[in-house]
Amino acid sequence: MPADKAKGGSRLLDRDLDHTRIKVDLDPADFGMMAVMLELLAADAACPVDLYLPLYSRQTKKPRMELVAQAGEPFKADWLQRLARAEQTKVYTPLDQAEVLNAYFDQHAGELLDRPNMTTRKRTKYIQELAAANLNALFGGDLSRQGMESTVTRAHEMVRQMTSDFQILSNVAEVLRSDYSVYSHSINVCMLAMGWGRFWGMPESRIRALGVGGMLHDAGKAKLPRYLLSKPGELTSLEMAEMRRHPRLGYQMLQPISAVSYDVLMIVLHHHENADGTGYPAGLQRDRIPHLARLVRVVDAYDAMTSNRSFQPALPPAEAAATLLNQMAGQLGQDLVANFIRFLASPYMN
Ligand SMILES: [Fe+2]
Ligand SMILES: [Fe+2]
Repeated sequence: MPADKAKGGSRLLDRDLDHTRIKVDLDPADFGMMAVMLELLAADAACPVDLYLPLYSRQTKKPRMELVAQAGEPFKADWLQRLARAEQTKVYTPLDQAEVLNAYFDQHAGELLDRPNMTTRKRTKYIQELAAANLNALFGGDLSRQGMESTVTRAHEMVRQMTSDFQILSNVAEVLRSDYSVYSHSINVCMLAMGWGRFWGMPESRIRALGVGGMLHDAGKAKLPRYLLSKPGELTSLEMAEMRRHPRLGYQMLQPISAVSYDVLMIVLHHHENADGTGYPAGLQRDRIPHLARLVRVVDAYDAMTSNRSFQPALPPAEAAATLLNQMAGQLGQDLVANFIRFLASPYMN
């Protein structure tokens, strides 16, 4: 919608939403947009970016993004309440405004996370949303040097937040996300790997490397055609070959960024190596694979099995653990799988 149409006159959120046009199921990336959880917006504060709501168009019977608030204007408390009543939890913003949104969160994350009556659960949820917004900037296509630097700095900040409250990495299972978008997957891998590192008794610096490495392990996928990431169904062998480029692509992207540690780079490059030498990109054998990359390999496989994919429903955790043990122990290494299963049964997960 042209910006001037939103100004003055009757505004979309000034009246109750038409229930026949809401609850739209879509992938915002198809519209060049990303989701913003309403909880991250402060009532009556100026919107950092333009915000849209998807509504079904009566004419075309397809969803359309409608502007509900422009950058700079106050997002009224009334509007938030009306959206809540309509059970709308998110609004959307164009991907090319992701950087502005993230800069806004950089400024306000502290106050957001330290509000009174903030439970650990809520704080975890917010950190995850901030992390998703950060990854959106990356997977939305901002691969400039400056964009990457910001993404990495923020990934460090999110990981620092996750370790600042000991409770956040307990009961990890409760806060895992069940869809297999590249965002949710990256955040799950980050949290699972850190929880496992803590269970293992690793020093804090290694745990943080697991967190940043987990968050960025699939960064190379940002360079692959988007349809590959969201393709319903299994990939053809050609597509699979293309997909297998992502560890090296990620390494090449992150290698020039000074804030990326060697441990993190090794996670990104080697998280698809198998202990029996059948993995990629280098086909390394067990003892030659960097240890943290092996851990992320296990967590990555577990998250893929326990998330809903377009071609297979999520496996319950116990079945995924059995699959790791019975079918993947050769690839992942018996030693790690046994330890991971003990972690799954520990208070860090439950
Ligand atoms: Fe990967
Ligand atoms: Fe992955």
